[in-house]
Amino acid sequence: MKYKRILLKLSGEALMGDKQFGIDNNRLMQYAQEIKSVAEAGVQVAIVIGGGNIFRGVQAEEGGMDRTQGDYMGMLATMINSMALQAAIESLGIQTRLQSAISMKEIAEPFIKRRAVRHLEKGRIVIFGAGTGNPFFTTDSAGALRAIEIEADVILKGTRVDGIYDMDPEKNPNAVKFQQITFDEAYAKGLNVMDMTAFTLCKENKMDLVVFDMNQPGNLMKVVEGESIGTTVEV
Ligand code: GTP
Repeated sequence: MKYKRILLKLSGEALMGDKQFGIDNNRLMQYAQEIKSVAEAGVQVAIVIGGGNIFRGVQAEEGGMDRTQGDYMGMLATMINSMALQAAIESLGIQTRLQSAISMKEIAEPFIKRRAVRHLEKGRIVIFGAGTGNPFFTTDSAGALRAIEIEADVILKGTRVDGIYDMDPEKNPNAVKFQQITFDEAYAKGLNVMDMTAFTLCKENKMDLVVFDMNQPGNLMKVVEGESIGTTVEV
């Protein structure tokens, strides 16, 4: 295995599958299965999942709602996804622990870095819910932050696109994919990899990032084994 401890960042939207809203059970179970495979291969897995399939903070502003309020609603949306993912993974017989950045002790442990690391060492999958616990941050930033805190080897950003392209591949058929790129190159080219807070956190803390297509069965295992699918972003 190329990586011993990973932070898997999943998008909330991806959980919708072909639906317009909410959680598609087939997609959820597919993700759980992929995660189970790498965990059983001995990889320590921490997960951050977004909430965009349920609610997005920016959406609130459009409706005239305060951004802060919207962002907290988005954080609650990530908790719903985190709980769904927790249940799905546990239904496959793998132990998990859910830690929340916002205190909700009836449903999740508080985020405690040392405890999270201990869970990982015991082979439990740790899901970090509620983003960073602060408005004006994205779940990409939460992923970067938690990855650095738990000293993960890499952030694996599972998307529906198989890497980073010079143009939007869903709009431009001539878009060219990068196998590898540095943070500085990605910034200079204005590539939309993650928001700047997440990007800067990764760069300054030398946290590598791999962007890959999570919807393709078997891809997560391939990335963890070091196969060069997707795009690697390095310092
Ligand atoms: P070890 O100390 O390694 O045995 O870890 P553990 O997580 O099994 O220990 P603990 O006895 O603290 O936790 C048992 C169960 O309670 C686990 O499922 C935890 O996720 C859960 N748990 C622990 N603290 C909290 C909390 O503050 N809130 C909630 N909702 N669950 C908690």
